[in-house]
Amino acid sequence: MPALAQFLHELDAVEHAALAALAAAADAHALEAARVQFLGARSGRLKELQQALAQLARDEKPAAGKRFNEVKARVEEALAAARQRVEQQKSATTHEAAFDPTLPGRRPRLGHLHPITRTIDELKDIMGRLGFSVADGPEVEDEWHNFEALNIPPAHPARDPLENFYLAAAVAARPDRAASPLLLRSQTSTVQIRVMERTPPPVRIISVGRVYRPDTADATHYPMFHQMEGLWVDRHVTMADLKSVLRLFAACYFGGEGHIRFRPSFFPFTEPSVEVDMAWNQGWIEMGGAGMVDPHVLAAVGYDPEEYTGFAFGLGVERLCMRRYQVEDIREFYKNDVRFLRKF
Ligand code: DAH
Repeated sequence: MPALAQFLHELDAVEHAALAALAAAADAHALEAARVQFLGARSGRLKELQQALAQLARDEKPAAGKRFNEVKARVEEALAAARQRVEQQKSATTHEAAFDPTLPGRRPRLGHLHPITRTIDELKDIMGRLGFSVADGPEVEDEWHNFEALNIPPAHPARDPLENFYLAAAVAARPDRAASPLLLRSQTSTVQIRVMERTPPPVRIISVGRVYRPDTADATHYPMFHQMEGLWVDRHVTMADLKSVLRLFAACYFGGEGHIRFRPSFFPFTEPSVEVDMAWNQGWIEMGGAGMVDPHVLAAVGYDPEEYTGFAFGLGVERLCMRRYQVEDIREFYKNDVRFLRKF
């Protein structure tokens, strides 16, 4: 066979073999092997043919060279196309492995209300069933509502600036009163006054909200906590009513008998005043303070103390929640540690 015919024959064979090998390459590894075999710069089949091309006679070279260049370009094109195909297959298979439609779905973790919020809702629910509606008051208060109207005179130690969060600005609570300093309320008893000022008797309300005291935080103290205030004023309201309402409340919230006891105590806004304990685990736990509304308080809001009597109570919400769920440290409620919050 003449040298040119031999050369062109081999060129055809190499083209055929190269295109077949590239088309058959299933992965990057096979592709690289095919590339080295046919396009390798040192000993690839096309390199060999290029050397054979140089040996051809002068007048045979142009036609042979043209054909060689065509073949080389086609094989390079086929290599590029094969690369793209392998690349696409690879990302398609990785994707398939990551998405298994038969796997069970991932259940999103649902949050829930904070334990104190839940407790407040429950307290409102229980007291609602006992006939108490819900009232609200501001957390920034004046001294009239936080102290004076509650029969806490100016010299009283509870008004010490070190015992309260006073604010810098002073305002007049009413046009006929001198400007008085503002403070973050230290008790929800303020709402008793606000409600009675705007409502003629009878009133039968609770108010649940935040109160603030500059206490150092420890297991049982926190500078902010919640109280539930209760107030029932009407004709002929007696201590027996106070006792039965608190007993029913305790029975509903803690379950069981709701056995409670009263210890004599003192609050400026009640007379007589008591501290209320309830039976718990063979002992007693303190629920809060209560008493019969002091006639001075009724008079301060324009109620006639000769005609109306009432009782009031104030319970610590965190304390109620802690006792019920055996929480040892009030600070747990405000750390926002989900490991704690998730338990409720
Ligand atoms: N305000 C009191 C406190 O913060 C609690 C309290 C006691 C509220 C007796 C009352 C009450 O309504 O009658 O310590």
